[in-house]
Order: sequence, then structure tokens, then C-alpha cells
Amino acid sequence: MKRPLHTAPVMPSRRGMLFGAAAAATVPLTMLGRDQAVAQPGVMDHTAMTPGSASNHAGHAGFPSGSVPPERAGIDPTAILRDFDKGKVSTLPDGRTLREWEITAYDRDIEIAPGVTYPGWTYNGRIPGPSLWAQEGDALRIHFTNAGSHPHTMHFHGVHRAEMDGTAGIGAGSILPGQRFTYEFDAEPFGTHLYHCHQSPLAPHIAKGLYGAFIVEPKAGRPEADEMIMVMNGYNTDGGDDNEFYSVNGLPFHFMDHPVQVTKGQLVRIHLINILEYDPINSFHVHGNFFNYYPTGTSLTPSEFTDTIMQAQGQRGILEMRFPHPGKYMFHAHKTEFAELGWMGFFEVSD
Ligand code: CU
Ligand code: CA
Ligand code: CU
Repeated sequence: MKRPLHTAPVMPSRRGMLFGAAAAATVPLTMLGRDQAVAQPGVMDHTAMTPGSASNHAGHAGFPSGSVPPERAGIDPTAILRDFDKGKVSTLPDGRTLREWEITAYDRDIEIAPGVTYPGWTYNGRIPGPSLWAQEGDALRIHFTNAGSHPHTMHFHGVHRAEMDGTAGIGAGSILPGQRFTYEFDAEPFGTHLYHCHQSPLAPHIAKGLYGAFIVEPKAGRPEADEMIMVMNGYNTDGGDDNEFYSVNGLPFHFMDHPVQVTKGQLVRIHLINILEYDPINSFHVHGNFFNYYPTGTSLTPSEFTDTIMQAQGQRGILEMRFPHPGKYMFHAHKTEFAELGWMGFFEVSD
């Protein structure tokens, strides 16, 4: 029998208490946190910080822009786009493919936006870390060295034994500075996955930059495509529990100044991963086109044909599309605030 609604116990919710507290203090929510940063000229208006930069080209008029040059940042989102690291490949006695990687965590300051240096924690000096690529069923060994200043781990999404989970307190658990550990498991299931540090406190350990893509190709492969990786992240540059910058592949506004080059009619396959901390939801929207969406990349049948999808923290999926017309097409978070703080770019389609 259906339980009448009025008999349900009334539980105070954390959100209710938070909103209640805010209301009691008569502080308008719009005045809290990041909105203050947005209101400050110079934080929001990146063009004001970069006179004479490439971002001041005509054609971006009306949009905030101004990315740091990749050679100054030491990371290049365009290179990361198609940089699939297949590891050192050998064959095991049983005939299976073995892939091995050397991953070192270390602290590294990165100029993420002109004049804004972020004290990052990185895998192999990159934010995001290397995109590890394997084929379904391959044996994987990830030789991890912690050369950073804090304990870290590598926690992979996928199917594996508990002691290989890279979670503090289980198996080898926290890998202390100066220590080394080899994670060993098989590549399953096929799909678009990720790895990240799983050391407490978790949010800063992830948000500082310790994450990357983990792609498992189906045994039978996928149709030939211009394949790319887009890792959506954020940067909390001034403390608190909110982000001041958002990006794809590490540098805010990069793809405004360096559009993703694609060919008219060609199949484009994007492995899209949301590793944002502090904001519960991220999104992806493309202009002038629609795409097939495969959540988590674990099915060969798309779930949706659309131009906008959302991903919660840790969610990811594959987008497949063909651009029928040449020209420049924006892609960006459909949350305007994220877009205006760096999460926007262009596809440039040529014949
Ligand atoms: Cu960590
Ligand atoms: Ca902040
Ligand atoms: Cu995770």
C-alpha cells in the first residue's frame, strides 16, 4: 500500500540548514563567494590583464578571452587533445599485451592565466595528467612515484582488486613522499574513464591537478575518427570552496585563441571527462551541430542525439559528431558563469 505523504518523517536537510542560516543572517546568496570575485574587474575581465596578447584579435569581440601562451604555462591543451599515451608495450608469456607507465607526482607552479600562477600538484608535470590508453583486456602496470610534498595515490575508475584501488587505508594506501608503488590490473570495462588522487582531504587533492583520462578501447575497436580528449577542470585560486577559473585541458580560454582544428565531414570523437571539484555539475554545448552521446563510453549505441549534455563530478562520456559546414563554431559550458571564467572555445572546420 502506498504510504500517505503526510506520514513521512520530516528530516532537517543540510541544504535547508545552510539556506536557513543564510536567510537568518540576511546575507543574500548572490553576495557570497565567487560572485564577489566575478564583480572585481581584472579577475573577470581577462582581456584587461593581457594587453597586446593574441586574444585581442578581432573576431572574439564581445567575449572574454586572453589565454596564457602554452609555452609560458608549460602545458599545451591543444597537444593534450590528441596525446594518447599507450605506454611501454610488451607481450606476456600468455600472449596478452602488457602496458606500463611511469607516473611521478610532483608539485609544480603553472601560470594558468596571464599573471595568475597556480601552485599545482601534478602527475608528470601536467594538468591534466597523461591520458593513459589501453585496449580492453590488456594487462596494465602503473609505476607510481610520489615526488610531491604530500601523500598521494592513483585511484583508477574501472574493475580491479581492492588493494589496487589507490584509496588511502586500503592495500598500499597512501603513497608517502619519496615512496613508490606499482598499480596492477586489467583494462576493463571498455569506455572513457579517469584516474585521480584519493588522499584526504579529497577535494584539494583532486582540485590541485591530480587527475587524468583513462581510455579503454573496445577489443573490436571503434570506427576511424579524429579522436580527442577533453578534460573539464577548474581552479580554486583564492581559497574557499569555489573555483575562479574553468578550462578544458588545463588552460582557461585556450581554445578561444587556438581553435580545435577539424575537417568538414570527418567523424570527430571526443572523450569528455568532468573532474571539476566544488561545483556539482558541468556541461558541454556545441554550436551549429549535434552529436551522438555515449555515457561513460561503455555502450556502442548512443543514448542521445543532442547539442548539450551535463556531467556530474567524475562523470564522462563520448561525443561523436561531423561538422557539415566550414567555419568557426563555439563550444562551451552552458553555464554562462563557467564559460565566462574560461570554459569556452572554438572548433574551426576546414574543407
Ligand atoms: Cu593527493
Ligand atoms: Ca575560490
Ligand atoms: Cu573518481
